[in-house]
Amino acid sequence: MRERRPTLIAPSILSADFGALAGDVRAVDEAGAEWIHIDVMDGHFVPNITMGPAITAAVGRATDRLLDVHLMIEAPERYLEAFAEAGAQVLTVHWETCPHLHRTVQQIRELGARAGVAINPATPVHLLRDIVEELDLVLVMSVNPGFGGQSFIGRSLDRIREVRAMLDNVGSSARLQVDGGVTPDNAAAVAAAGADVLVAGSAVFGHPDGPAAGVRALRAAASQTALRRV
Ligand code: DX5
Ligand code: ZN
Repeated sequence: MRERRPTLIAPSILSADFGALAGDVRAVDEAGAEWIHIDVMDGHFVPNITMGPAITAAVGRATDRLLDVHLMIEAPERYLEAFAEAGAQVLTVHWETCPHLHRTVQQIRELGARAGVAINPATPVHLLRDIVEELDLVLVMSVNPGFGGQSFIGRSLDRIREVRAMLDNVGSSARLQVDGGVTPDNAAAVAAAGADVLVAGSAVFGHPDGPAAGVRALRAAASQTALRRV
């Protein structure tokens, strides 16, 4: 049985206050969030436009935490170098946007970043079978990408279990990240299903007591898994 690693918290700055971004990033950093999730959208692959390498570099000046860049853009290979130079340490591309995925993953690693692949809610998990051993991260989208504040798609729990089984079967040490609608209400179930990185935007930056409380609430909820597992 694979040894479970502690669950990492990755606040998505899509839900942060863009007018006070550095302060929000420092707040989640000081609350112990291990990663900062940066949602890049191009208005083509997803119906929203957000941020790019300049914001990534600005976030990197506000924190030493790992910069986890989620590329919801067409032809992401065009921008890998720019995001790597901006400080991205994880670069996640969507399976749906990469006809030459094996080459794109190689490009990410040649840039010195960790390579992640995301799958949308209707993209079958088995499509990762022939690339999974090359990955440092698999991202299971539990909402349709494009916006924060959406509800968790319940079917995602089975998909998380399926990815966890796939990773364990090949002895992969890749991280299993879940992104979209993650809250303290479902964090224990998401972690128990096999996730070890939880992305949360609205649950963190929309928390009534502020982002630091949001991180702490999510961590406490996710740790309930450990108790349940014992
Ligand atoms: C959606 C993004 C998610 C989103 C998460 O396309 O990839 O990272 O910001 O936000 P919440 O946690 O509010 O669903
Ligand atoms: Zn994301």
